[in-house]
Formats: sequence, C-alpha cells, structure tokens
Amino acid sequence: MKKIMSLLTTLTLVICLAGCGSSAPAVESSETTTSDSQITDASEKESESASTSATESDTEIETGSKTLVVYFSATGTTKGIAESIADITGADLYEITAAVPYTDDDRDWTNSDSRCSIEQNDTSVRPEIGSETISLEGYSTVYIGYPIWFAQEPRIMDTFVESYDFTGITVIPFCTSGSSGIGQSGQDLADNAGSGNWIEGMRFAGDALEDEIKEWIDSIA
Ligand SMILES: Cc1cc2nc3c(=O)[nH]c(=O)nc-3n(C[C@H](O)[C@H](O)[C@H](O)COP(=O)(O)O)c2cc1C
Repeated sequence: MKKIMSLLTTLTLVICLAGCGSSAPAVESSETTTSDSQITDASEKESESASTSATESDTEIETGSKTLVVYFSATGTTKGIAESIADITGADLYEITAAVPYTDDDRDWTNSDSRCSIEQNDTSVRPEIGSETISLEGYSTVYIGYPIWFAQEPRIMDTFVESYDFTGITVIPFCTSGSSGIGQSGQDLADNAGSGNWIEGMRFAGDALEDEIKEWIDSIA
C-alpha cells in the first residue's frame, strides 16, 4: 500500500512538473507574442500616424499652404516679374485690373493734372478694381506686386489690400520701377491692410533675371 501511495505521489509530482515545465515557455512565448504584437501595434501606430500626418499634410496642402501672386501692372513690367515668381513657386496668379483702365495720358507723370498725379497726391483715393474678386482661402503666402508711382504704391493697391482679410497669411510685397526702391510702400500697404504677416518687400528692375528672383525667393523661404 505504501508502495502504491509513493508511486501515486511520484506520478502526481511528475504530472505537475510536466505541466509547470510546459507552462513556463508558454508564458515566455505569450510574452514574446505580446511584445511582438506591441511592436507591431507600435509600428502600425507609427505607420498609422505617418499616414495620418501625411493625410493631414495633404489636407494642409489643399486647404492652407498654397501660394498666390497678386499683381497690378499698367504696362506689363510687373506682370513679367509676377509670372516669374509664380513659375518659380508654383503659385496661382491673380491680376488686379482697374475698373477704369489707365490710359497713356492717365499715366503721364510729367503732367501734374494727370489721373495718376492726382490719385497719388491724395492718399485717400481708392480706384475701383475691375477684376473679379478672389477668395484667399487656402493660401498661406501671397506675393503682392505693383509698379512704383511717385515713390509709392498705386492707390489701387490700397483698394485691394483693404478689400481682403490676410489673417494667417504671409504677405510679401514686390515692385518694379525705373530706379526708385520699394521705399515705404510695403509698410503703407501693411498698415492699410491691417491684417497679415507682412515681410519686407523687394524692388526689381523690369529686366531682372529669373536667377535674381529665385535667389530672393530662396532668401525669404
Ligand atoms: C505715374 C507714374 C509714376 C512713376 N513714378 C516712378 C517713380 O517714382 N520712381 C521710379 O523709379 N519709377 C517710376 N515710374 C516708372 C514705373 O515704376 C516703372 O516703369 C514700372 O516698372 C512700370 O511697371 P508696369 O509696367 O508693371 O506698370 C512711374 C511710372 C508712372 C506711370
């Protein structure tokens, strides 16, 4: 009987040990599995978050990171620079035209009674814009170009900046001229706009090369 009892005890012990022995690697493997699956989850999360941020940035590109080049050009000089900026930056272009176009006589700076002379002598004049309005939604950067008229921005540029809300937009003025610099015009436009993050602008000669324009763009990017 004693022998039978001892045999049964030994058998129970063997079964128990065998059970415990097999459960240890199972936990390990389960830990490995868990940790593997955590790594997978983390990498999934990583790729999820990567794809989420890619999606978010894609959305950003669609909704808030476009560039627009706005310009007014009476004789085509500023237009040429505006087109180069748009080419280089991949921006959209928008031309400001006057509801009543400027004639050669209007632009006669030698005549103090010409339309331009009269308008530029009165900072409160706001010539009407003829081009259709544009939505600035989706644009994070707006270049604004114009010719220098009597060392200032043409008054129609004041009409433009006062008609739009530039909140959240980086606004970059540029101009063309015979020889004058951009002077106070960028600051005057910023003051009249009353919104937007305006940065110091740049004056170009009409024959400015694309390399010079690109260098400037790169310097402010
Ligand atoms: C009414 C008027 C006033 C101007 N005043 C100046 C000036 O003060 N300084 C200057 O360097 N050029 C002056 N210019 C020359 C223009 O700024 C220059 O020709 C400009 O590049 C023209 O650009 P647009 O062809 O885009 O109109 C003036 C031109 C006009 C028509």
